[in-house]
Parts: sequence; structure tokens; C-alpha cells
Amino acid sequence: MKTIIEPFKIKMVEPIALTTPQEREEILRRAHFNVFQIPAEQVIIDLLTDSGTSAMSAEQWAGMLRGDEAYAGARSWFRFERVVRELTGIPHILPTHQGRASERILFELVGGRGKVIPSNNHFDTTRANIEHSGAEAVDLVIDEGTQPRTRHPFKGNLDPRKLEELIARVGARHIPLCMVTVTNNSGGGQPVSMANLHEVREICHRHAIPLFLDACRFAENAYLIKRRERGWDSASPRAIARAMFDLADGATISAKKDGLVNIGGVLLMRDDQLAERANNLLILTEGFVTYGGLAGRDLEAMAQGFTEVLDEDYLHYRVRSVEYLGEHLLEAGVHIVEPPGGHAIYIDAAAFCPHIPQSQFPGQALVCALYRHAGIRAVEIGSVMFGRVDPDTGEVSYPPMELVRLAVPRRVYTQSHIDYVVEAVVEVFERRNTIRGLRIVEEPRALRHFTAQFEAVAG
Ligand code: F0G
Repeated sequence: MKTIIEPFKIKMVEPIALTTPQEREEILRRAHFNVFQIPAEQVIIDLLTDSGTSAMSAEQWAGMLRGDEAYAGARSWFRFERVVRELTGIPHILPTHQGRASERILFELVGGRGKVIPSNNHFDTTRANIEHSGAEAVDLVIDEGTQPRTRHPFKGNLDPRKLEELIARVGARHIPLCMVTVTNNSGGGQPVSMANLHEVREICHRHAIPLFLDACRFAENAYLIKRRERGWDSASPRAIARAMFDLADGATISAKKDGLVNIGGVLLMRDDQLAERANNLLILTEGFVTYGGLAGRDLEAMAQGFTEVLDEDYLHYRVRSVEYLGEHLLEAGVHIVEPPGGHAIYIDAAAFCPHIPQSQFPGQALVCALYRHAGIRAVEIGSVMFGRVDPDTGEVSYPPMELVRLAVPRRVYTQSHIDYVVEAVVEVFERRNTIRGLRIVEEPRALRHFTAQFEAVAG
């Protein structure tokens, strides 16, 4: 059969309130053209993030009811620990409330002034936690990874040459670990190849630098290796995921992505001494080592989610539906980061709105146009998120790309929802000349994308 169906049935539904363009214009105005300020109930298709927005299965909900809420040594903890150990083979398993909690513990232990931590691309919370510790975060993705239209099967790869150069420049003793983010969210949800992981591992090994994975989307990365890398096409996603973890000395995981849960995270490591220190910090700020800031029911849901996510039919549907969205936008002439990644499509907003200068936020203007036209909520990853104003000179620095991310929640939307998104983006594209730029009227000191207020620039 050519048609790929959602490999699940729907037992419980949530209504979507359909608003009119006039209503949405008013909602946008009240939100000061910042979609983070729009109540979710006034969104038709919510593509703000794929994090914590998954639909759980009947088995996950059943596990929630079975959750053992004992403070120490709960049954749910032992199930969770067994599942994560079988999946990763890594001995020390610390449950945390989400990915950034794992990052905070890890970098409090290994970060600090004078340390340098490379990655293909650090996610914003990872970078923020590294910098908060006083260390420096360095992105070493291959050049293709920063060029939206260059096709490469593994645009998330870390450039081994850049890693060698960094080690030669700063010295291995200043590099407490090297991270690799799979898939590379900040670079467009692009996968990292097994060959690249081997190469990075070999360099790290030679210099006695531990290799850690940011493994939020490990299953999607494993499936893209199966699809794109020679020699892996007959391996199961589970075997590929295990081969990825076998190369790592540890990992941080936000289970809100491939854990298929609404909250949860994991910190993994092989080193006994580091694990002991991490457990002490875990107890200090998250919770006892057998629940780490979560309820027993959350551990059950994660254990089940980490199992279901490696189902090959699920991954086929998942990766294909994102790819389908990307292909249809490309056919209509919309420029996106190519090829489509695992969890999201990233529209090149600078190419979409060439008439809007970077100083008038083309990505944010496109986000607003998508909401106004069809009630779709996307997120700007461009000058609003990364533009910096020098407090002394007032001079503005802009990021290299103006992107709009359409992140697809897992198991939430059907094919017709995706068709609706395609139709909406294409219609907005056809009338792109009418999209107007924005100016900021109010902004906080940090993380301005969440709360900044905008107004339309006169047309
Ligand atoms: N690492 C990566 C690669 C991520 O994408 C995220 C979260 C985190 C770490 C942090 O995990 O949110 O559980 O603390 N990404 C979300 C997103 C927020 O929308 O891409 P967290």
C-alpha cells in the first residue's frame, strides 16, 4: 500500500475551537503580536513545540494508574530503570523533571570558568546552563549544517576537523566533555550519522574527553540512520539506538520528546564517581534518587514511552509525516531547511518575506501571518530569539538565519491536519507581499521572544 496510515486509533478526543480570521486579528492584537501570549484554546493547530505535547497511549495511561508513589524504591522506579538500562546499557540512571534539570546537574559538576564544551549545536537551555556555570559553549556543526538549502543526509554531524582544532587550541584538559545533540534541534532537526559518532568518539577517546549525547530525539535519529546510512537499513531502531548509546560515556535526555510524555527527563553516565556527585545534587534540588522530581506515575509513563517510541511502524509514520509536510511546501516554492528533519519543518522566513528587512523581524511577521490566516501557531527562530542589542552603543547584531519552526507534536495531529497546514502556508506564501514587518514596543532584558510586545510597521 502507498498510503501510510497513523498506526493507532483514537479513543479520546479534544475539541479544537475554530476561530475566524477577524477573531484571530483581535486575538493577535491583544497578544501584542507575540504568539506565546495567545491562550492555547485559541489556537487551531499548535506547532509551537514537539516537547511535552505528545499524546500518550492507552498503555501509558494505564501505567499512570498503576504508578507506585513510594518515596524510596518504588516499583515504578525499578521498571523505569530496567527499561532505560536495556535501551542504553548505561549503568547510572538519574531521573529528572526535564532535560534542562539534567543539564544543570551535569554542568554544575563539570562546567565552570575556563572550561570549554563543544557540541554540534547546543540547544538554548544547554548553552544557557553551560554559560551559567561560567564555561564556554562552542558549536562545531559541519558547514552544510548552517546552509538551509544544501542537501546532506546528516546535516547534524559534528565537524571532526573543527573538534581537533578546538582541542589543539584550548587543550584537552579544559574540555570536560564533548556533547553531540541527536537530532540537532537548533540546526533544523537534522540527524547525526553513526559514522560521525564513531569519528567523534575516536577523537574524544584519544584525548581522554568523555562523549555525552543530548539524546532527546534518539529514536528519530536512529530511524533516520536506518533510512539514510549505508549498512544500517536492516537493523532495528532499537539496535541502532543502542549502538549510539554504546559510543557515549553519558547522556542528557528530555523525555518530553522521544519519551512520549508530557514531563520527565533522564541523566545517564558510566563514571561511578561522577554519578555519586550527580546523585548528591539530584537529592539537593530534584528529589530522592528513585524519583528525582517526578511522581511514580510519570516514571511508568516514561518507561512505556521509551518502549513504544522505537516501534518501527510508529517511526515510519512519524518521519514520513514531517517529510510530507516539507515536500509539499517545497513543491509550492517555499524555501525550507533541506532535507526535512525528524520533528519539524523550518521555513526560511528571509526567503519567504524578502521585502521585510531583518530589523523588522520577517520570521515573527510570518508567524503572525500564519496565525491570522489559519490559526496555526509556529515559533520564530531568528532575530527576535537571537538578535542582540548592545546596551552601550544600541547596535543590533543579527543571527545568520531567519527561521520559522513548525514542530509537529507526536501522535496528536492526523494527515488532514497536516494537509490543512500545507494549504495555509501555501496560501500565505501566495500573498506574501502583503505581510508587513513588525517593530518591538516593549521587551524584557533576557529571553525576549517569550514576552516582547510588537506593533505592525505602517505599510
Ligand atoms: N535539548 C534539546 C535538543 C532540546 O530540544 C530541548 C528542548 C532540551 C534539551 C531541553 O529539554 O525542555 O525538557 O528542559 N526543546 C524544546 C523545543 C523546548 O521546543 O525544542 P527540556
